[in-house]
Amino acid sequence: MNAASGTSQRILSGMRPTGRLHLGHYHGVLKNWVELQHRHECFFFVADWHALTTEYDNSQIIANNVHEMVVDWLACGINPGSARMFIQSKVPEHAELHLLLSMITPLSWLERVPTYKDQQEKLKEKDLATYGFLGYPLLQSADILIYRATGVPVGEDQVVHVELTREVARRFNHIYGTEPGFEEKAEAAARKMGKKAGKLYQKLRTAYQEQGDTEALETARALLEDQQNLTLADRERLFGYLEGGGRIILPEPQALLTPASKMPGLDGNKMSKSYGNTISLRDEPEAVEKKLRTMPTDTNRVRRTDPGDPKRCPVWQLHEVYTNEEVRGWVQEGCTSAGIGCLDCKQPVVDAVLAELAPIRERALEYERNPGEVRSIIAEGNEAARTQARETLAEVRRAIGLEYS
Ligand code: TRP
Ligand code: SF4
Repeated sequence: MNAASGTSQRILSGMRPTGRLHLGHYHGVLKNWVELQHRHECFFFVADWHALTTEYDNSQIIANNVHEMVVDWLACGINPGSARMFIQSKVPEHAELHLLLSMITPLSWLERVPTYKDQQEKLKEKDLATYGFLGYPLLQSADILIYRATGVPVGEDQVVHVELTREVARRFNHIYGTEPGFEEKAEAAARKMGKKAGKLYQKLRTAYQEQGDTEALETARALLEDQQNLTLADRERLFGYLEGGGRIILPEPQALLTPASKMPGLDGNKMSKSYGNTISLRDEPEAVEKKLRTMPTDTNRVRRTDPGDPKRCPVWQLHEVYTNEEVRGWVQEGCTSAGIGCLDCKQPVVDAVLAELAPIRERALEYERNPGEVRSIIAEGNEAARTQARETLAEVRRAIGLEYS
């Protein structure tokens, strides 16, 4: 079933370990992950190889941030009992799948991905005319496909990478999913589901193929997901047979667009490390308070007696994230009439940010004191991820015919 219908999915997402996480990550990504982990099977990973595509000459920063990134995740409430957390390079199967996918991926598909040129423009000081950087989105495809993830929570900028992943999966299935006697094998597989389920499958398949009933397609997919006694190969056949093609070895994932984060930085721009306008998740409370107290306000309010306009003020944007209507009414009135000072106005924001960060910081400190615990959470995640990755890779090798003994 699809994302909207609420059925459990397999979720995968990753983050590049290039620095400490800040409130922008929390509001933009991590709150969403925390939410997803309760409803779905989740895999979250530290994309250290992806970081290396741009930080190859500065690889120390990756090493310094891998462990810390997981600490930040844990501090934000990602729960190792609900979600797997792991490190990309500890699951080398990603690399093998990346290599195999590279054989069937037209160069033009990669050259066309907008982030390729955009990032080269943006990071002009770096030489990104590398083989690895061109392959960045394909490595991401391998990350996703190796877990046969159905949902990939990403921001707007990453949607094109999920689209590419879908195209690559389709091409892979098209090239390697055909087999002699496919139809007979699929029919036999349907019978293995048992009488009732098999009949329902056939009915839904007909409804989809003859009337284009997409709801029937979704229902049939869910039915297949629920079958316990099918082999992986039979399941792939039945997924493929539904839509008329060959086996579906690598299912096409969907991007789960993360609701656009409105998290503004201290200067009113989007919060981002490159703008130097961040509040880190582990900043000390005193530092947080100081950053907020010294952040700019409406430049027309030079003196306390000058009226201001919240629309021209970055503090107002923080009110929109952190305070209620009543407080915001007080700001509107007090600012435009010079009835309140800017420090008065900032206080409710200071209080709310500190309250939000307090439990995060506390948990982070706890994990900082127990690095062994973090390491074992990661080790378990690596193992669980590898188990899944190996399974997919075995299927992929078999489909290509790379099975010689
Ligand atoms: N490219 C992603 C980013 O910059 C990180 C990433 C790597 C990723 N592999 C992934 C995200 C797989 C989702 C799925 O944010
Ligand atoms: Fe900004 Fe508040 Fe000062 Fe108005 S009173 S300028 S909204 S900080």
